[in-house]
Amino acid sequence: MGTAIGILGAGQLGAYLCRAARQLRLRSVVLASRPDDVAVAVADEVIYGGLGDVVNVARLLDRCDVVTFEREDVPVDVLDMIADRAADGSIRVAPGVETLRLIQNKADQKAWLVEHGIPTAPFLRFDNGVNEHSDIPFGSRYVVKRQRGGYDGLGVAVVKDGLLPQAMAGAPCIVEQWVEHEQEVAVLVARNAAGQLAVYPVFAMDFDARGNVLRQVVCPAGLGDRLEAQARSLALRVVEALEGVGVFAVEMFVTQAGLMVNEISPRVHNVGHLTIEAFDVSQFELHMRAISDLPLPAPCQSQAAAMNNLLYEPELDRACRDRMSIDDQAEGVHVHWYGKSEPRLLRKMGHLTVVSVSALQAAQRADASVNLLKAV
Ligand SMILES: Nc1ncnc2c1ncn2[C@@H]1O[C@H](COP(=O)(O)OP(=O)(O)OP(=O)(O)O)[C@@H](O)[C@H]1O
Ligand SMILES: [Mg+2]
Repeated sequence: MGTAIGILGAGQLGAYLCRAARQLRLRSVVLASRPDDVAVAVADEVIYGGLGDVVNVARLLDRCDVVTFEREDVPVDVLDMIADRAADGSIRVAPGVETLRLIQNKADQKAWLVEHGIPTAPFLRFDNGVNEHSDIPFGSRYVVKRQRGGYDGLGVAVVKDGLLPQAMAGAPCIVEQWVEHEQEVAVLVARNAAGQLAVYPVFAMDFDARGNVLRQVVCPAGLGDRLEAQARSLALRVVEALEGVGVFAVEMFVTQAGLMVNEISPRVHNVGHLTIEAFDVSQFELHMRAISDLPLPAPCQSQAAAMNNLLYEPELDRACRDRMSIDDQAEGVHVHWYGKSEPRLLRKMGHLTVVSVSALQAAQRADASVNLLKAV
């Protein structure tokens, strides 16, 4: 086996990265906290430990040539250790530690966007937390976000009536102007160390209102040629300015005044799951190629597609436990279960992708397929 890739994190994204590694004849070593973590079953090697476990992360680094991240919330002392190992040349890190440090903190990330002239919602940073006496110049509708550790809408509170949520009190955060948007989209970009870039078409995102969790992704997004091209070039500009290595997801709002970047993820992303079936190269393969200095093919879409997350609710329990598929493969329905044993409301238990002749048909069939799974 060739180069060994260490992956910090062992969830479903890690599992897909391991599969891509195998296809490319790379060796995967994951850091898992439990034997039932999704990626454990598919990794070539597993080191047990939490993301903050310096000793076991060090063991993982000893076992690999390149290290990459499935999650961005890596604690500071672990990042420091990885940076030391990178500096002495014993390991390569992709994306780089400085990129991760920047993106980990939403206040620093937003400041960087502003500094680089990238359109983003006006914001203020509150390093000591925000309270009812804080001066917030955005009217009664704004968004409070924890500076660190938020994901899947956790750590984000939309304020509609000027009343600050208690849960946010005290924690370092940013306050952002509410962005009136027509749509949310994301663009996935891969970049390798030689500076070669590859970009997917725009993905349209729809969120489950119960928890701001990604519900459905559709591609083509139907933005029209001009906006599509603008979104792609904005995402490319972001990743080039970061000098990022690996796959990045650039989340944006489509507004009347144009595009605004919401946030950047320095990793493969849930929004790109449909690249497995709908493109000739998946985001996971592109990430592995990018971090191992392989050439990056331009992704080519074979069919329109939609992906729905299988977010846990009691109606899905049976389908989830039995890992039901839909007898519809010929119709382009692909069901993926992650094999997670602990269901929690809106937890991502799997996803399904539908490829079809049009985005609308794919989206409709994806919704119908989720309903079929709930009905069993
Ligand atoms: N300024 C804003 N104006 C309007 N809506 C917003 C704003 N900021 C965030 N949102 C909404 O909240 C969602 C979550 O925010 P954001 O993407 O910043 O947080 P996150 O929890 O890090 O996201 P993720 O789910 O990608 O991990 C966004 O997708 C969007 O729907
Ligand atoms: Mg987001």
